[in-house]
Amino acid sequence: MPLVEHDPAHRLWLLRGPESAYAFRLDADDRPRHVHWGSPLTLSQATQVTARRNPADSSFDEPGDERQELPAEGGAFFGVPALAVRFEDGTSALEWRYDGFALDDDALVVRLADRHYSLKVSLYYRVRGDVVERRTTLRNTGDEPISLLRTDSASWTLPRRDGARLSRTSGAWSAEYGVLREPLPVGETTLTSRRGVSSHQVDPWVMLDAGDATETSGEVWSTALAWSGSWRITVERTHTGRVTWTGGFGHEHVGWRLLPGETWETPVFAGLYAADGFGGTSRRWHAYVREFVQPHPDELRPVVYNSWEATGWDVDERTETELAAAAARVGAELFVMDDGWFGARTGDAAGLGDWVADEERFPGGLKPLADAVHAHGMRFGLWVEPEMVNPDSDLYRAHPDWVLHMANRERTTLRNQLVLNFARPDVADWAHDWLDRLVGDHGIDYLKWDMNRAFTEAGWPGEDAGRVWVEHVRAVYRILDRLRADHPALRIQGCAGGGGRTDLGILARTDENWASDNTDAADRITIQHGYGQIYPAGTMSAWVTDSPNPATGREAPLSFRFHVAMAGVLGLGGDLPRWSAGELDEAAKLVALYKEIRPVVQHGSLYRLADPATSALTAVQYVLDDSVVVFLWRRPTEFARPFTPPRLRGLDPAGRYRDQDGAVHDGAVLLCHGLGWDFPGSGYASAVVRLTRVG
Ligand code: DGJ
Repeated sequence: MPLVEHDPAHRLWLLRGPESAYAFRLDADDRPRHVHWGSPLTLSQATQVTARRNPADSSFDEPGDERQELPAEGGAFFGVPALAVRFEDGTSALEWRYDGFALDDDALVVRLADRHYSLKVSLYYRVRGDVVERRTTLRNTGDEPISLLRTDSASWTLPRRDGARLSRTSGAWSAEYGVLREPLPVGETTLTSRRGVSSHQVDPWVMLDAGDATETSGEVWSTALAWSGSWRITVERTHTGRVTWTGGFGHEHVGWRLLPGETWETPVFAGLYAADGFGGTSRRWHAYVREFVQPHPDELRPVVYNSWEATGWDVDERTETELAAAAARVGAELFVMDDGWFGARTGDAAGLGDWVADEERFPGGLKPLADAVHAHGMRFGLWVEPEMVNPDSDLYRAHPDWVLHMANRERTTLRNQLVLNFARPDVADWAHDWLDRLVGDHGIDYLKWDMNRAFTEAGWPGEDAGRVWVEHVRAVYRILDRLRADHPALRIQGCAGGGGRTDLGILARTDENWASDNTDAADRITIQHGYGQIYPAGTMSAWVTDSPNPATGREAPLSFRFHVAMAGVLGLGGDLPRWSAGELDEAAKLVALYKEIRPVVQHGSLYRLADPATSALTAVQYVLDDSVVVFLWRRPTEFARPFTPPRLRGLDPAGRYRDQDGAVHDGAVLLCHGLGWDFPGSGYASAVVRLTRVG
């Protein structure tokens, strides 16, 4: 059965996922109207969905409550427009004329043209499992520019339900991805980043439910934006109970001029309906990211050693070579030299932008270190921050006009750095060229691409300055895409001071993502819980670092630190030469264990067995075919505090499962009672349980 169908008589389209359906139609004025997003319906059933009139049928409101598929300014529409434009004569309302459609098996485009002005708009849909990818393009077919004030990728409508609740993240640097789940107030709720990156503060996704969904049950509608710069999602709940939201790149007061002949492409805003709660929602997103977003989903991510927490900027060939030897001994597969290897970079005040290894610290260049790392059988990676410059650098002295700036305004430095304007083709070319040479000339296997400050004074004197918000990000994407194409073995970690740029856009161009600069395992449980709401564990880098943790000062056992990091892409970031022989032995054993279980962790289905916000004992479970891995973590708590033993999920009740000690458990018992774990005392405790189906 085709995934996209059309009913010409009703001017209706239906998109079908395995467990969902999505439908919209054109009204008499050629406005696309949302019809259905939820459980599976056939084409003919979708034509039976009827619009309602507003209870107060007044001259102060829209005549009906059938929402628009991508509301544009114009007509009796008083909500948040997804499209707002201004033509040269001052007209800003839009009036559509249907201009045809095209579909193939899983994709649809519906074309609209303005009835008077030279503007064409296309609404794109693609079915990816139960995910519907949506985006919009605008084309100026005339000979005058058009001001684009808001160009969202897509708008979404919740079917009528008794309640409405919004789930999203709230965070800060080193405290990313805190999950907030709150009743949706009547009015408009805007989540946004004005920082030039998707942000630590709130991730570009939302989940909506009627207030009745749980981890394991209930309807959830969720959407995620594939965009790594500033963005905005506005969710509206009307007095009459309708819930809609619209989202896209850019933020308020940022606009663009669409020139004659130009086409404006918005990023994908993907939506997912799931009837099996927040857990089912997350698993579907993970499957989607693996199948349709990640560049190398079938690979297993290597165990990284990263030198940042061990050395800070105190980087030289001898120290790094020693660290590499220690990392190899505990089983690391990739050694990454972090910040501080180039130019005058001995702190955060100078050298950023001068991408040549410092001769004093690396007298033979990078080759001796790269050779030493490769001789240990590890791959070699380097930290870079291509979008930034220190004012105290040769690059800035030569090109002070290359940064984002505004005439007659200060250039605000953050972390002593300014943002290079990648919207300028000469700047983007410069960045591509040195990166291409660095990777090619030194046999670099892996780049950690960092980005350490928000945009300020994001101007470009003499140009259509609003464009920098979009063109900068597009240039970053283009450089990443080119590097990957020209160096097929290169792997890339995305990072923005930890998780400041985590989104579906960056995950399409990187292999893993540094989720947070906070490596304290106790905090990390909460951070990882939030990360995994949308993004899979196989993209989530997690390092084991020193105790006490250099940032939080908290001590935690080595096994606990490992067990938490092993729930993602395990890495090491501690000062290994200072670890005791006993610690290094234990670390080597845990790294070896991780290598055995990593296919299940990185490619399996995630079940969250307890919520870290409410339970001192937290557990997550991964299932891949007949293999199951469970991590249990207890953070310090009051003595004898009761806890509910986590019950396993996703197993066959009729199946039998053998644990690593040889005991065999019935699936029905594991599902109903869990494994009966008990951690004595009340301090840190953790365990990894492996189960294999044996019948
Ligand atoms: C921020 C990153 O998140 C850290 O891991 C480290 O690479 C520093 N930048 C280096 O400046």
